[in-house]
Amino acid sequence: MPLIAILPGDGIGPEVCREAQRVLEAVAPGLAFEEAAVGGAGYDAAGHPLPPATLDLAKRSDAILFGAVGDARYDRLDRALRPEQAILGLRKELGLFANLRPAKLFAGLEDASALRPEIARTIDLVIVRELTGDVYFGAKGRRTTEDGRREGHDVMAYAEDEVARIARVAFATAQGRNGRLCSIDKANVLETSQLWRDVVIEVAAEFPEVELSHMYVDNAAMQLVRDPGQFDVIVTGNLFGDILSDQASMCAGSIGMLPSAAIGSGTQGLYEPIHGSAPDIAGQGKANPLAAILSGAMLLRHSLGDEAGAARIEAAVARVIAGGARTPDLGGTMTTATMGDVVLKALA
Ligand code: NAD
Ligand code: IPM
Ligand code: MN
Repeated sequence: MPLIAILPGDGIGPEVCREAQRVLEAVAPGLAFEEAAVGGAGYDAAGHPLPPATLDLAKRSDAILFGAVGDARYDRLDRALRPEQAILGLRKELGLFANLRPAKLFAGLEDASALRPEIARTIDLVIVRELTGDVYFGAKGRRTTEDGRREGHDVMAYAEDEVARIARVAFATAQGRNGRLCSIDKANVLETSQLWRDVVIEVAAEFPEVELSHMYVDNAAMQLVRDPGQFDVIVTGNLFGDILSDQASMCAGSIGMLPSAAIGSGTQGLYEPIHGSAPDIAGQGKANPLAAILSGAMLLRHSLGDEAGAARIEAAVARVIAGGARTPDLGGTMTTATMGDVVLKALA
């Protein structure tokens, strides 16, 4: 029986995770679930954002459903003890170097998008974000210079094998879609990006049927709101991918709509909404659980090979959205739990 680790975390994490678990239980009755504390909750329970028991559960599991971590209460702790280290640690420890972040507009959500309806309707892309390198994992530190100024640094670095493996995931993703891949970098300024671009071009030779293009990240941010329909698959580094995916979410209606899959070389994966713990709405039943529910669908597809189950969840979400179900982020009044209820009903 496949084991699913449930790591709800902080803020709205537990609220959205609960709905995603209910949907998974309904669609795939043969799953075992085991829960553990992570993030601020892990720090409170065991003095560490990623307690050993939580990491152990994650390693034993076939797949991880992750809520979100973080709260201002912990922002003054040493960086190593902050909630965010939990998700970074899991990605690194489990070798989950590729993050798939699909962004598409569900029919009916045109009004929720920050774009005009006729433009919003065209967004249907996947951001393939590198997840275990870049400025996130380079050396960082603080010092005081000789003339007494405080200084901080974070080293941005990629090795060629790190770029090649994420490029292969992205080319393969494009192969399974419309065959177009746009690599986004800042090669006009950054050496890291020039290496990125060189390696992506080398890997392209393995995928002659995929059409490769390159774009600078500043232009990409503009193009994403001008004409998101031009993109099929995007491949980019850890930091640019983080930023561009939050931006893409508002083209598709809400940050509460975008799921993600963090995968590595095996079938194990970590599935989470792209949003954070949303402290401003936590505990109020206002969180949109659809990003978490759709992450559950990605879990079935990528880690358990259950394409039918994944498609069933996605069809149910499309149905409730078409039927007018809206949490506050989408302009409605539905609660988190009620949104879960209507998705469960729509599965039938
Ligand atoms: P956030 O994504 O938590 O929230 C940004 C805004 O979007 C808020 O106004 C929030 O209410 C809204 N929002 C987010 N998810 C929503 C949902 N499902 N339904 C409705 N509205 C939603 O980003 P932030 O405020 O910058 O960060 C808050 C905390 O979350 C920080 O501690 C940050 O480090 C952390 N964070 C964690 C993750 C993660 O666990 N993977 C991701 C992003 C941010
Ligand atoms: C995300 C988050 C994380 C990231 C933070 C919380 C470390 O923003 O998953 O998008 O930057 O990767
Ligand atoms: Mn983010």
